[in-house]
Amino acid sequence: MKYPIEPFKIKTIQKIQRKSASERENILTNAKYNVFKIASEDVYIDLLTDSGTGAMSADQWSAIMMGDESYAGATSFFRLKKVVDEIFQFQYFVPTHQGRAAEHILNEVLVEPGHYIPSNTHFDTTEANIRACGGNPVNLPEARKSTSSPFGGNIDLEKLSRFINDVGAYNIPYGMLTITNNGAGGLPVSLDNIRGASEIYRSNEIPFFIDACRYAENSYFIKKHDERYQSQTVEEISKEVFSCCDGITMSGKKDGLVNIGGFLAVNDSELFTKIKNIAVLREGFPTYGGLSGRDLDAMAVGLKEGIEEDYLEYRTSQTAYLGEGLREIGVPVLQPFGGHAVYVDSAAMFPHIPVEDFPGITLSSALYLAGGIRSVELGSVAFAHFDEALQKIVRPPLELVRLALPRRTYTQAHLDFVVRTFGEVLENVETYKGYEITWSPEHLRHFTAEFKSK
Ligand code: F0G
Repeated sequence: MKYPIEPFKIKTIQKIQRKSASERENILTNAKYNVFKIASEDVYIDLLTDSGTGAMSADQWSAIMMGDESYAGATSFFRLKKVVDEIFQFQYFVPTHQGRAAEHILNEVLVEPGHYIPSNTHFDTTEANIRACGGNPVNLPEARKSTSSPFGGNIDLEKLSRFINDVGAYNIPYGMLTITNNGAGGLPVSLDNIRGASEIYRSNEIPFFIDACRYAENSYFIKKHDERYQSQTVEEISKEVFSCCDGITMSGKKDGLVNIGGFLAVNDSELFTKIKNIAVLREGFPTYGGLSGRDLDAMAVGLKEGIEEDYLEYRTSQTAYLGEGLREIGVPVLQPFGGHAVYVDSAAMFPHIPVEDFPGITLSSALYLAGGIRSVELGSVAFAHFDEALQKIVRPPLELVRLALPRRTYTQAHLDFVVRTFGEVLENVETYKGYEITWSPEHLRHFTAEFKSK
């Protein structure tokens, strides 16, 4: 596959240096085989997340100089408002310091103990925020009929209808969709599916929210894979998507192309009054939320750049280039490739390591040892839990390791290096061993758990 030409040239750089093999071994041992504990200067290629890790443009940096740091009514807010109104078209919005702050406010306002919140797949912070309010997050992803379907992020509409009938609409304060679906390989949700979910929610009088952090990638995939939308712009498609729902939570750290920032947008004025009350308490005055004026300006420009189609073509092709390179050398990757990351099936890569021995940690450790590459385990360490009702450990369906691509950050040579490093690991794949947990916290254990080699 041809590498897409970057629609930009590099103006500022940050030096990276690869530690020697023996240094990497020491660093990983000291980090107890958890790559979250490694200092970034000890990482060569950092594919831990695409969130807040991208490069800003010269236009964003110059907008930062225009930041108005007034407590109330800052001009930065009105510049952001103009862009948010233009693209997303909601009546009201409040800036937040990042996506999970928007989730926190929404749940605090709407969720009571015992409530259910269905979605295609909730992100982990969304789930945790729902649970923190006593609610029950429910994931209803559509079973993948074939790997050739590009819209692998869809919600199962039949299951959604059935679920609402079973628990009663009055127990569902709002329903959700995450676009793209980070929990399903970063794959997009089709416009038909978004409309279908919207009809179901609306006919049951359930407010419908979209977790929109990768909406631009989602709209670009709709344009590319649904011929009915090929002549529409990504902005037009996005407007159509948002016309289906009643509000969004947004992490600007993804398709807003900023290092920090987010917002919560709604149409309902009564709901917005409640949101503003909580926002003032937790984030800040409603014209700055949890951000400085300069952050608001960076996001205003970033949101516009995030829907440029040459950028989105490059962005999604870069991800596919890495995925295709890995597939060609025999790495078991999830297909089709999503927008922001390539997902590797670590249990298939190390078939001799049982899932109880965390093959995802084997892979994330191997990538760091062989190349100084940082990835993230999204398998049993992140998601396995003891189910009280079933009295057994429930594991996720796949032992995934995610390689997320920071935006506008790495070049073809960096990605070729990642593929070569996988090649080295594959050469003696049978010599790798599993891991066991030596310590883990009560919640979100993947961030801080410690391991030792079997
Ligand atoms: N929703 C989705 C789908 C996300 O992927 C994330 C963050 C959030 C909400 C929360 O946004 O970080 O600004 O508070 N995802 C990052 C990741 C952390 O690595 O996938 P935030």
